[in-house]
Amino acid sequence: MALIKWRESYSVGIDQFDEEHKFILKLINELFQIVKEKDVAISVTYEIEQLIDYTKKHFTNEERAMEEVGYELLEKHKATHEELVQKVIVFKKRIENGDESVNSEFYLFLREWLLSHILEEDMKYGAVLSNSAPERA
Ligand SMILES: [Fe+2]
Repeated sequence: MALIKWRESYSVGIDQFDEEHKFILKLINELFQIVKEKDVAISVTYEIEQLIDYTKKHFTNEERAMEEVGYELLEKHKATHEELVQKVIVFKKRIENGDESVNSEFYLFLREWLLSHILEEDMKYGAVLSNSAPERA
């Protein structure tokens, strides 16, 4: 489970959202450091809660920005966000129930989610938002 490194190619062209994505990446890396070091279960739960809370805020920020420009894929994007949060909650419950097989699966899910969501879905709004509101870029 190598830590995820930020790359310039992950930039959606909007500073605020790049910074938020970097912070999510940091939270994911911290979470897996704790899992790797087999820290007490409560820390893992706490880190997952931090990740969920911050990610929800970030998603709300993204959705608000998309609403402002009447982004046509907003509803679809919102549904993806909701689905991701629900999946993380399911993983959290499994971990709380002591399912140890979940760790690498969870890591792969988060890694895959973060990278594919940013690179595919977020890039689409990045292009629209940075054109509609150049002051954001
Ligand atoms: Fe998004």
